[in-house]
Order: sequence, then structure tokens, then C-alpha cells
Amino acid sequence: MAGGAPERGREALRTHACGSCHVIPGLRGAVAWVGPPLTEWARRGYVAGRLPNTPENLVPWLVNPQAVSPGSAMPNLGVTEAEARDMAAYLYTLGAARAQAVPAGMPLAPGQAGPRDDARMRPREAAPVYGQGRPGG
Ligand code: HEC
Repeated sequence: MAGGAPERGREALRTHACGSCHVIPGLRGAVAWVGPPLTEWARRGYVAGRLPNTPENLVPWLVNPQAVSPGSAMPNLGVTEAEARDMAAYLYTLGAARAQAVPAGMPLAPGQAGPRDDARMRPREAAPVYGQGRPGG
């Protein structure tokens, strides 16, 4: 993402304690469920259910969520625009180009499911079968 540095962003996510409300992969201790998990962020459609998920929309949200969505449960946290750019750069590394790495048993992406109308899951054959193989494994 232009202008942002993912490593600085990770540090800014830590200092602003974003992990006290969110699950954020790669950030130690960021395991809270007050707000939505920020896993696979690059694949999300919307920011806070309001704006299409683009850097142009994510940065203002991080700086001033109450302006984007008045009354939202996410408070303004004093994030500067520079910090928000770095945070966004980090968040867009989550889930980027990893569509094929979704584990077995997870829903298929649109277009991968073929012509059937019903929802389909990834095949299980790649998953380990617990209780088989080595004793205790
Ligand atoms: C007090 C708890 C709290 C803190 C602290 C907090 N958030 Fe949130 N956050 C929320 C809640 C609740 C939502 C859902 C808001 C909504 O949809 O209106 C949210 C939504 C978001 C979203 C949009 C998620 C989605 O699925 O659309 C992002 C991105 C986000 N927060 C990032 C951050 C970052 C980065 C920080 C640290 C600067 C942070 N949050 C700190 C509670 C928090």
C-alpha cells in the first residue's frame, strides 16, 4: 500500500492496543473478540459494513471511526494519518494472495464451487486424519 510500511504498522497496532478489541494475526496478544476479527483483512468486502474495503476508506476509518460511522462501538483512538497508513499496510498483508491456502472444510470462494446451487466446502482429503498413523498422533 502506497506510503505505508507494514512493519511500522504492526508496531503502531501494538502501541494503540488494537488487540484489546480485535484478533489480529501476527500480533502477540491480539486475541480479543470485542470487535470483528481482522483476519484475512485483504479479502473483506467492507469497512465496518459502511464503505468498500479500500485503502482510501480504511485510513479515514482508523483515524476517525466516529466520523465514518457515528455511534459505532469503535472509539476514536488518536491514530494519526501516517500511523493509519502504516496500519493499513500491515492489515492488507493479511489474507492477500492466500485464497488457495484456505484449509479443508472451509467454504469455497465464489466461482470455485462450480454449477451447483448449494454451498460447498473444500474437500477433506488434504486434511490429517486424527487418531491414525503414529501412536498418540
Ligand atoms: C474498544 C474496542 C476497540 C478498539 C480498541 C479498536 N477497535 Fe476496531 N472495531 C471495534 C468495533 C466494535 C468494530 C466494529 C465497528 C462497526 O462495525 O461499526 C471495529 C471495527 C474495526 C475495523 C473494521 C472491521 C470490519 O470487519 O469491518 C477495523 C479495520 C478496525 N476496527 C481496526 C482497528 C484498529 C487498527 C485499532 C487500533 C487503532 C482498533 N480497531 C481498535 C472495536 C475496537
